Amino acid sequence: MRILSGIQPSGRLHIGNYLGMIRPMVESQQRGELFCFIANMHSLTSVTDSALLRSNTDEAIIDLLALGIDPEKSLLWVQSDVPEVAELTWYLNCVTPMGLLQRCHSYKDKVAKGIPASSGLFTYPVLMAADILMYDSNIVPVGKDQKQHVEVTRDIAIKFNTQYGDTFVLPEPEIRDDIAVIPGIDGQKMSKSYDNTIEMFLPQKQLRKKIMSIVTDSTPVEEPKDPDNNNVYAIYKLFAAAEETAAMAENYRKGGYGYGDAKKALYELLLDHFAEARKKREELESDLGFIREIRGKGADKARAVAAGVLDRVRKVTGMS
Ligand code: ADP
Ligand code: TRP
Repeated sequence: MRILSGIQPSGRLHIGNYLGMIRPMVESQQRGELFCFIANMHSLTSVTDSALLRSNTDEAIIDLLALGIDPEKSLLWVQSDVPEVAELTWYLNCVTPMGLLQRCHSYKDKVAKGIPASSGLFTYPVLMAADILMYDSNIVPVGKDQKQHVEVTRDIAIKFNTQYGDTFVLPEPEIRDDIAVIPGIDGQKMSKSYDNTIEMFLPQKQLRKKIMSIVTDSTPVEEPKDPDNNNVYAIYKLFAAAEETAAMAENYRKGGYGYGDAKKALYELLLDHFAEARKKREELESDLGFIREIRGKGADKARAVAAGVLDRVRKVTGMS
């Protein structure tokens, strides 16, 4: 069973990405063959600063390795290192009905958020279909926001297979609706686009500052507080053991416990939770030659798989 997952390097990865996607990806290495890639070509629809995109891509590779993606067991690569995906996108574009893309809500949502309305943004789901079909993926674990894109991928694959004969494996979406939406420091959904993220690999001082800036109400220290109506507690309980969560809730309710105390506890908990990953990340950062080697090997392996699929596509479409 081949499980495929991609993540955009449009900013530094945060604890929402970690709980919502990276941790499930790391865990999926136990149950199948994981193909995971950094979707930098997708990020080009929103990030125009090339130096920033390049550095976010490198940082994302290091983050994923530090958090437990095992390059011996899994395939890890950068999307643009396999240019074949752009060729496949064209073949898929030619069987994709306009109406199918017009029905995708992500285009309208992103334009409403201020992302320029380029044709790349409009055909984004076709590039994503190429990512998935290029590697004969069986399972694509995604959050609810990406479900429609996997359904579009299936529609495109069915259309292509009907027109040219069986060529693509039909992927199944695996919707992770059991995973909570992680709140950001302002209480909205944590997202790079809302500038409310907590990045797990921030230097200690900055991490502490970020946590101290979590928005709370102005209940005085001595008064009792409602844990279920508070961002610090909401984030704390995502990482804490049951007893630790219960102890913090009890502290809130009995009074004499300030939000500053809770923030300090959250800071310590996050440092502890990511201690091993932070250490590994430091080691990886000091060995950029190794990172380059991993990236190169990943690209070679991914290109070998892509070449086989593209060969089938070129044959049936009359391109070869
Ligand atoms: P962002 O909103 O920061 O731009 P993306 O939309 O690129 O993040 O999401 C990348 C992955 O991380 C997706 O699979 C998404 O489901 C997951 N993710 C992002 N933010 C959260 C969050 N606040 N809670 C849970 N999962 C999240
Ligand atoms: N569109 C996905 C996101 O924004 C990233 C992505 C690109 C992806 N290609 C993919 C995810 C293929 C899964 C499979 O999160």
